[in-house]
Amino acid sequence: MNQVIDLLKNHRSIRKFTPESVSKEKLNTIIQAAGSAATSNNIQAYSVINITDNDNRKKLAELAGGQTWVEKSPVFLVFCADLKRSEDVCHYEQKEMAAGYTEQFIVATVDVTLAAENAMVAAESLGLGGVFIGGIRNNPEKVCQLLKMPDYVYPIFGMCLGYPDEKPEQKPRLPVEVTLMEDYYSEDTSYLGKYNEICRDYYQNRTNNSRYDTWTSQISAMMSSPSRTHMKDFLEKKGFGTL
Ligand SMILES: Cc1cc2nc3c(=O)[nH]c(=O)nc-3n(C[C@H](O)[C@H](O)[C@H](O)COP(=O)(O)O)c2cc1C
Repeated sequence: MNQVIDLLKNHRSIRKFTPESVSKEKLNTIIQAAGSAATSNNIQAYSVINITDNDNRKKLAELAGGQTWVEKSPVFLVFCADLKRSEDVCHYEQKEMAAGYTEQFIVATVDVTLAAENAMVAAESLGLGGVFIGGIRNNPEKVCQLLKMPDYVYPIFGMCLGYPDEKPEQKPRLPVEVTLMEDYYSEDTSYLGKYNEICRDYYQNRTNNSRYDTWTSQISAMMSSPSRTHMKDFLEKKGFGTL
């Protein structure tokens, strides 16, 4: 349709990279593109930490559950939801931030996520590839300590970037007929069988028939177990409350 849409539709996560480094100029362009995303009331409640220290890379890879690509990727960025800047702004104006509201948590979380997706798309448009790393939320307190993050800042995910050394098959997504509803919410689930077949074929192709998996088996296994139960307390401690 056009180059932007072709690029978006060509996305796949990349976890294997060539040794070629990413120039500072390209990284700046990527972060500029990130900062051009829409942002709630122009709050710009996000920061990005570029991890260049090898020891910290190694530690972050471990904290993320032993994800080797976190250590090996040419660039590893940590995206932070950041209300500390808002607090600084309040102090600049001799005001106290009214902290701890769920709405502020949503604002910061959405702002950083929009910026990060812009970064990923910009990187892909420059011939790079990458993968988001939610695994850093396995140990968010340790990540905060390691990266010296103050209150009102929390690490939401990392992002590996570099020149791709693999071209995995694209993971099939839900069709538009399912995700786009008209006028009212649709509770129709009749698409599940067909989508399962598509995902099963994808996994079988990708693994030479050794993996039999479906979308519903994967997602139901995940969604029927407790998930990162430390997050609620962690967020509250960092100043992202539930008022
Ligand atoms: C917020 C977020 C966190 C993710 N965390 C990880 C991660 O820790 N490790 C990883 O290998 N992939 C991670 N992924 C990548 C997803 O597994 C991947 O995007 C999804 O399976 C779809 O595959 P695709 O990106 O190749 O289309 C994450 C993706 C997102 C959006």
